[in-house]
Amino acid sequence: MHKDIKEILYTEEEIKAKCDELAKQIDQDYAGQEILLVGLLKGSVPFMAELAKHLKSDVKFDFMSVSSYSGVESKTLVVRQDIKEDIRGKNVLIVEDILDTGKTLYNVKEMLEKRHAKSVKIVTLLDKEEGRVFDMKADYSGFKIPNAFVVGYGLDFNERYRQLPYIGVLKEDCYKK
Ligand code: IMP
Repeated sequence: MHKDIKEILYTEEEIKAKCDELAKQIDQDYAGQEILLVGLLKGSVPFMAELAKHLKSDVKFDFMSVSSYSGVESKTLVVRQDIKEDIRGKNVLIVEDILDTGKTLYNVKEMLEKRHAKSVKIVTLLDKEEGRVFDMKADYSGFKIPNAFVVGYGLDFNERYRQLPYIGVLKEDCYKK
């Protein structure tokens, strides 16, 4: 275990098993239709890669990079990199690492819905329900977690720890100094 990690919440094996479970549910719901997976950079990359390996549906990959500022203005979404695909009439499944206040997904979903997709749904690996400020629910969520700062499996603190193969709670002195 990395020295900055206080506790491992989910191991690589548990995450893989969860991806398999989520994929089965997704395959069933889309019943043979094509899905465009839209990963939110950078945190969703390891999760999207693992999830996709378990999906039997036809999928395409696209990515988007956004930042939603935590200022007073609730709808400030800055799109740094947009998707390349025209999503009109398509099934879009937004892939996110963690759902916290809900601000990012609320704004991204609204933006993509305006482009006349057939459907826009959300899959998140982690869900911090206690942090919710926006009325936002994931259609598929892996693990519900308590209100702790977690890293690994794509999640970072100042761009670090994304490569850890597990989800762990970061020691407080690593982000409070
Ligand atoms: P939301 O817009 O508040 O739902 O936040 C979603 C984003 O906040 C995620 O994509 C992460 O980048 C970040 N985030 C929220 N909680 C954590 C955490 O515990 N560890 C790392 N990043 C987090």
